Amino acid sequence: MGKVKTCIFISGNGSNLKNLILKSRDYNFPIRIKLVITNNRDAYGLYHAKKNAIPFVCIDTKTRYFENQIFYHLKKHNISLICLAGYMKIISKEFLKKFGKKVINIHPSLLPKFKGLNTYKRILKNNEKKTGCTVHFVNEKLDAGKIVAQKSFYILKSDNVNTLKDKTQKLEYKIFPEAIIKIYRNI
Ligand code: GRF
Repeated sequence: MGKVKTCIFISGNGSNLKNLILKSRDYNFPIRIKLVITNNRDAYGLYHAKKNAIPFVCIDTKTRYFENQIFYHLKKHNISLICLAGYMKIISKEFLKKFGKKVINIHPSLLPKFKGLNTYKRILKNNEKKTGCTVHFVNEKLDAGKIVAQKSFYILKSDNVNTLKDKTQKLEYKIFPEAIIKIYRNI
């Protein structure tokens, strides 16, 4: 069986994209990244797509039928898996239904805790003992689909938003590839 044709959606830095590109070079890693989609033409992460000669598309999400455009590109590249990696737009219920294939997301908290934005700030404010990250399937509700994998660590008194982000992202680089392997280990 060939590798799963995958599209990564980004809006910003793209460090998870970079990490998945590196992992996907491994013969045994189940996916091949065929396309990158962004809603932000200035996203730094596009550098990694360009550097690795991966086709990318910038979508203007202010236009009315932008999800049709996304769908067109996914079809064109025969995409079977979407990985949301810091994509700051909600995927509509209609789009999920039309795509009909797997969509996963990485979120910087121990879901179901701290769905949505500004997670690090809220985690610290709430005096949590532990935090971490989660990879989950995307459904019509925000950050609420079935969990594929989760990793955690203890928060120190000295932690702040920057150190939490740093520690969480280091775990993300492990958990995202592990979750993908878990999903496809039977093919
Ligand atoms: C990640 O921390 C992820 O959890 C969140 O957005 C961030 C994206 O970071 N959804 P990057 O663009 O992959 O560096």
